Amino acid sequence: MKVDGEHYRTIWIAADDPATVLAIDQHKLPHEFEIMRLCAVDDFVAAIKDMRVRGAGLIGAAAGYGMYIAALTAPQDRAQFMFVAAEKLLATRPTAVNLAWAVKRQLRATEKCVARDDAVRAALRTAEAIADEDAESCRRIGLHGKELIIKAAEKKRGGTVNILTHCNAGWLAFVDHGSALSPVYAAFDEGIKTHVWVDETRPRNQGAALTCWELGRHGVPHTLVADNAGGHLMQHGMVDLVLVGADRVARNGDAANKIGTYLKALAAKDNGVPFYVALPSSSFDLEMDSGLANVPIEERDASEVCFVSGKGSEGKVTTVQICPDGTQARNWGFDVTPARLIDGLICERGICAASEKEINNMLKDVV
Ligand code: MRU
Repeated sequence: MKVDGEHYRTIWIAADDPATVLAIDQHKLPHEFEIMRLCAVDDFVAAIKDMRVRGAGLIGAAAGYGMYIAALTAPQDRAQFMFVAAEKLLATRPTAVNLAWAVKRQLRATEKCVARDDAVRAALRTAEAIADEDAESCRRIGLHGKELIIKAAEKKRGGTVNILTHCNAGWLAFVDHGSALSPVYAAFDEGIKTHVWVDETRPRNQGAALTCWELGRHGVPHTLVADNAGGHLMQHGMVDLVLVGADRVARNGDAANKIGTYLKALAAKDNGVPFYVALPSSSFDLEMDSGLANVPIEERDASEVCFVSGKGSEGKVTTVQICPDGTQARNWGFDVTPARLIDGLICERGICAASEKEINNMLKDVV
């Protein structure tokens, strides 16, 4: 997508140095746009853990590039070095299945290579393929999901379609285009009148910081709301469609996404508002039978709940404590929305029901 007229992906290999991967540093947004350099496996581990790169698709792509850098920087015992790199990357964040999917794909791609150069070439090819497929899948999600927005616009006789989204499932969460926001961009670019309600998404405020930044850059009208406002908006007919992303969807259609998504799905069901989850096929976990029972939910440091960062009155980014000293806090990053609350899954292959039968049918030839 474009930043100040220039096309960017969220992660790519430096044009002048194949041993350096560049990525947008999402800690700095929305106040600064900075590119960071990732040159060693530990740089990738830290960037994923600290959420300088984040979002299911981007975490997967970063893990793919991290494994390429592992192959490139490996000493004599390459297999052992890559195994350790894989373990380190896998330990960073547990919920988004794209991470494990990308690491395993890299291990498969390189395991039979004997010569170092062959392993590096295979890892590079695979890392680029993971990134390219992610971008293309998201582009196609936009084309399928756009139809839902067009239908909603027809129902409103050309009136503005109000879409509510949670967290950031835009291009910053992937390599390009995004999942939940890709249909919004596609519809907007086609001249459909759209407006997005953006949940702030406590505690890390990905909605306020990242989704508002993205939508603003693209010129899509949007309004930031407090996390708890969605139910009220739906009760008053102010939401036509809820579009969210997913970090992992199990075989039964249960969808893990940013904490708070489940509450939006409940409110949508109660108010008859269509609730759709958008994801590339790399975010399905077909080995998992029930999302609710089995998705590992990341619990992050409680300090993320107790402190918030933002631009102070002097224009400098600052962090403040929002609760009494010593307050006990817990910080679950994700929740699972049961399949029964989801009207459909938007994938690069089309839209299907959140049911085992339809998911299997849609993904039958995916390996
Ligand atoms: O914790 P994050 O910011 O990495 O969260 C992941 C997400 O971006 C969201 O849950 C998103 O809605 C799905 S992944 C694109």
